[in-house]
Amino acid sequence: MRKLVVLSGAGVSAESGIRTFRDSNGLWEEYPVEEVASIEGWHRNNALVTGFYNQRRRQLEKAQPNEAHKLIAELEQYFEVTVVTQNVDNLHERGGSTHIIHLHGELTKARSVKASECDYSLPGSKAVIDIGYKDIHIGDLAPDGGQLRPHIVWFGESVPELSRAAREVEKADILLIIGTSLNVYPAAGLVNYTRPGCKIFLIDPQPMHLRIPDFKQIQAPATEGMKQFFKEIGNL
Ligand code: OAD
Repeated sequence: MRKLVVLSGAGVSAESGIRTFRDSNGLWEEYPVEEVASIEGWHRNNALVTGFYNQRRRQLEKAQPNEAHKLIAELEQYFEVTVVTQNVDNLHERGGSTHIIHLHGELTKARSVKASECDYSLPGSKAVIDIGYKDIHIGDLAPDGGQLRPHIVWFGESVPELSRAAREVEKADILLIIGTSLNVYPAAGLVNYTRPGCKIFLIDPQPMHLRIPDFKQIQAPATEGMKQFFKEIGNL
């Protein structure tokens, strides 16, 4: 089976009612990113940061995967698929995808502030605690006695899953980029790991200008774009 890697961002969840970051009315317009999504912001005001992610988690509980998440899952019938997502929601999982790398962490997980990167980046690590849709409060402690924090990669932190994601992109026959402005590195740099001959598709309602040759844009929202992508599959 040929290998298809999906690189997804906030736009794939937009039609599930989850706000993107940089569109007009995006989250970063309402919340200063350096206050709610940076390691410095956490040290300045951890109550503000936990509150921001508690709100995101409550919204996620009410959201449903949309047709784009479901069609991405359906690609597994035709390809060996890995979804590399910048999203911290769980809508790819709930849409049925089975191989997912979360570059920027997961809303439904928490970890101790004392856990080291080697601890929490190991697959199945006990340092990462499943909290479902429950709020995190200041004073909630992990078994090691450290304050619980969202299991999210903030600005100023490294991206432990990056090399695993890069290895997947290197193996791809097809790369499908969907719903990401490709503004945030190192995630955006993953497109440079494709091997020669890899076919690159991009689904986004805005015109995109990538500094890579030969990509085909399907200029449409994620759900409509995925339907169009399925029509292309026969020619791939
Ligand atoms: P952005 O908000 O930067 O970009 C969202 C992209 O989705 C844009 O290109 C939009 O045009 C597109 N879009 C909007 N509606 C869409 C729809 N219905 N269907 C498809 N596409 C649509 O979000 P990301 O690229 O995901 O990181 O942002 C990357 C990272 O920046 C996030 O993971 C987050 C943020 O800061 C952290 O917080 C660490």
